[in-house]
Amino acid sequence: MKPTELCSEQEVTRLVHDFYARVRRDDLLGPIFERHVADWDVHLAKLVDFWSAILRGTRRFRGAPMPAHVALPGLHDALFQRWLQLFHRTTASLGNDAMQTHANAMARRIAQSFWYGYQLSHDPGQLPRELEIDFQGVPS
Ligand code: HEM
Repeated sequence: MKPTELCSEQEVTRLVHDFYARVRRDDLLGPIFERHVADWDVHLAKLVDFWSAILRGTRRFRGAPMPAHVALPGLHDALFQRWLQLFHRTTASLGNDAMQTHANAMARRIAQSFWYGYQLSHDPGQLPRELEIDFQGVPS
């Protein structure tokens, strides 16, 4: 399957907009994003480009996601777990199984790499921990 056949641009836009609507309502993640995202239109457009590059090979994304996350104060593994839970819930609601599988797998790997990068930057000398993914017990 060519990358552009996995999903349409409209599905990418829906994924990103639905996901960040969930994030903004979330008691753990919502306040972090409200504090750090100055312009939601800009953030959402950037994230559509990011996911379009990953899911459709469009190469539109220009950004530096690792330093943007390393700069956020107080990130911890439960926040990444919640991020992934909300992401999984969003992809499950879109009705495109191939997109769901691929997007979930990519999100998990990227979340793990951000979490490694975060720990290496904030706790140098400590062995970085794996993310434990626990999808139980989180309200929908
Ligand atoms: C604990 C989990 C996470 C939190 C709290 C978080 C928070 C944020 C915040 C506040 C920003 C805006 C930063 C700014 O504009 O200065 C941002 C940007 C971004 N996030 Fe996350 N994020 C998380 C996980 C992830 C994951 C797992 C991915 C990808 C799978 C991701 C992808 C991005 C991208 C692509 C940007 C744009 C970076 C840029 O401006 O170049 N984030 N995130």
